[in-house]
Amino acid sequence: MITRKELIKKYIDFFKSKKHKEIPSASLIPENDPTVLFTTAGMHPLVPYLLGQKHPMGKRICDVQKCIRTGDIDEVGDATHHTFFEMLGNWSLGDYFKIEAINYSFEFLTKILMIPKEKLSVTCFAGEKEIPKDEEAAEVWKSLGIKNIKFLGREDNFWGPAGKTGPCGPDTEMFVNGVEIWNDVFMQYNKNSEGKYVPLNQKNVDTGMGVERTIAILNGLDDNYLTDCFLPIIKKIEKISGKKYEGNKKTMRIIADHIKAAVFIISDGIVPSNTEQGYIVRRLIRRAVKYGNELEMKDFTSKVAETVFEIYNDYPELKNKKTILQEIENEEEKFQLTLEKGIAQFKKFASNKIISGKEAFLLYQSYGFPREMITEECKREKIKFNEKEFELELKKHQELSRTATQGKFKSGLADQSEKTTKLHTATHLLLSSLRIVLEEDNIIQKGSNITPERLRLDFNFNRKLTSEEIKKVEDLVNAQIQKSCEVRREEMSPAEAKKKGAIGVFDKKYGEKVSVYTVEDFSKEICAGPHVKNTCEIGHFKITKEEGSSAGIRRIKAIIE
Ligand code: ALA
Repeated sequence: MITRKELIKKYIDFFKSKKHKEIPSASLIPENDPTVLFTTAGMHPLVPYLLGQKHPMGKRICDVQKCIRTGDIDEVGDATHHTFFEMLGNWSLGDYFKIEAINYSFEFLTKILMIPKEKLSVTCFAGEKEIPKDEEAAEVWKSLGIKNIKFLGREDNFWGPAGKTGPCGPDTEMFVNGVEIWNDVFMQYNKNSEGKYVPLNQKNVDTGMGVERTIAILNGLDDNYLTDCFLPIIKKIEKISGKKYEGNKKTMRIIADHIKAAVFIISDGIVPSNTEQGYIVRRLIRRAVKYGNELEMKDFTSKVAETVFEIYNDYPELKNKKTILQEIENEEEKFQLTLEKGIAQFKKFASNKIISGKEAFLLYQSYGFPREMITEECKREKIKFNEKEFELELKKHQELSRTATQGKFKSGLADQSEKTTKLHTATHLLLSSLRIVLEEDNIIQKGSNITPERLRLDFNFNRKLTSEEIKKVEDLVNAQIQKSCEVRREEMSPAEAKKKGAIGVFDKKYGEKVSVYTVEDFSKEICAGPHVKNTCEIGHFKITKEEGSSAGIRRIKAIIE
């Protein structure tokens, strides 16, 4: 049996031997990318570097990145789909390209994992419109003795961008006995906001190997839930329910998957709520509870969740075990209270053989039924559900469509435009100004979200700011802009940055080296950028809103005029 930890170690060691530097997994909650709710691939936190910014660790990077994909939520329950999964990856940031990337992949698969090459098959991009067929990749595979090569179109062999815009390119996928385990993407285009594919100045490689599937394949299993990434969770569910996995596979898989994902999302600072990431955790926990009830389990989520901490004890963010378990337990309790009443209400509605949009909305709003639970219940009871009408009801209540009204999908990590660059630097000036005006040296960034229209900064402070304080902060930021200060970028170790007084979140995992941006003696922060060269480029700074965000956290929105 090869374990999850062994596979990760083999992969990282292999790429280190090929001069790659290992970086830690980034948070599941993307920093400064409002286009997506979660980190969905290893490349996502690396977008700025794929577009040409300098990475402090160099041009060859590798890691194992935790990911969440919620698009697959309905498919969870089969042997291979998960909301939370880990992705191994190696990157060339404008360094090596196709030939080396494919050779590394081949060497790792056949020499390190010892997979016979007869078991390997690959696919390459068939070409479409302005992007040519990838004969080059196919030639490299042929030269390595791979016979089973197929050419497929955009659906299968073109990857990205991760958000609406950003780096993307043709890819080559690797299969073992027909199961895809690895994808090498040749990122040489940037999809811009007009939907055009513009060649990038640097040619990159982005790869992704699914940990769960690969472990399953290597151990001759056709069910990811039987690997050490899941088995302890399944065993716990069997124990609590007194039922066997055999015969209850789908239900147990959903519970295991959802509870694992909930643990990880909460560990990155999200709590169950009705908006954005908070709503996803809420849905995950509630679905787990619902399926748990089918196995006659009650008060079980935190007991099941305990096993997640055992499997993933290599993640430092999971050390907050008590708080995380408490959040999960609270959500289960809350839901359980309304669930029975909700089911009774559902049955009443169902007697008409159709659930109207208004009825569904009541179940959603007052009984806390996640939307797909309504769909699933209707399917099971074979009654109709007017989803269109439900959508309209939802829209009316605006809660979820808030994202659209906020201009949410406009920008992202791929946005290195002048406007967002200015706002990035303004955010640093704002943070330092807050520290000075509020006379509080412990203020740090608790979240940041920048679109071309505005910046949004969350920071720790426990009361509302007065209008005088807001004015003072604005004036201080504008004074730095008027002084035309140079913005300097340096690379150093996190320890050095801390010693030099840089603002950073030092309990978070940084890589061996970080970028530090300095504005004279006014601001020094660990940051990925991008930033202006001189503060005089920014323009006039104005705070448009100051409000509470959650307990002990304030939120400021500001614009450049
Ligand atoms: N970014 C590529 C993927 O997610 C490697 O498959």
